[in-house]
Amino acid sequence: MSITPKQASELIQNRRSLYPAVFNDETVDDAIVEAMLENGNWAPTHRLTEPWRFVVFSGEGLQKLANFQADLYRKVTEADGSFDQKKYDKLQKKPLLCSHIIAIGMKRDPKERVPEIEEVTATACAVQNMYLTASAYGIGGYWGTGGVTYYEEAKSFFGLAPEDKLLGFFYLGMPKISKWPEGRRNPISEKVSWVKG
Ligand SMILES: Cc1cc2nc3c(=O)[nH]c(=O)nc-3n(C[C@H](O)[C@H](O)[C@H](O)COP(=O)(O)O)c2cc1C
Repeated sequence: MSITPKQASELIQNRRSLYPAVFNDETVDDAIVEAMLENGNWAPTHRLTEPWRFVVFSGEGLQKLANFQADLYRKVTEADGSFDQKKYDKLQKKPLLCSHIIAIGMKRDPKERVPEIEEVTATACAVQNMYLTASAYGIGGYWGTGGVTYYEEAKSFFGLAPEDKLLGFFYLGMPKISKWPEGRRNPISEKVSWVKG
């Protein structure tokens, strides 16, 4: 490998979430999105089930996603009386602030060779690979799980069956920032115990 452990650590620790509020109206090159997806495909996967599935929205596709999610939100929340016009407006507008949006799906192995949680975690590894790739290119993006993510009725729009899961969306855009954001974590020592003999 041509990268050093120091370079790998630098990328991992400087991977950041950047939100549509800091995106400008430039478009991310499709080739960068392809590189993200390709790296996503190299996530670890128990029994090589490769459960990650992605639908990429760009151009007019973003308006289609906006219409779909806002309409579904209205349908579901009008039925249970929780409709909120502000949330509806946000679902209509947010996609249009992005260059691309990648819907993140987990496709259940037909033979159920591994527990479901392992398919979800493998897909999360794929998303981490995409996150790292976006940061390496200086592209803004984050994994969001709001909106219609956990609506059963949303699955088929993204090519998912009832046994599959929609795990959210990766929002992408060109950042209008003068400085790459700093991260914040509590020390790893608070989360680890060692057993040595
Ligand atoms: C599974 C998952 C779901 C997330 N969902 C949201 C979300 O719905 N809204 C949001 O603002 N950030 C979401 N995030 C991003 C986190 O807020 C972000 O990773 C955290 O603030 C740390 O910032 P960093 O990624 O720049 O280190 C999600 C992250 C993960 C891993």
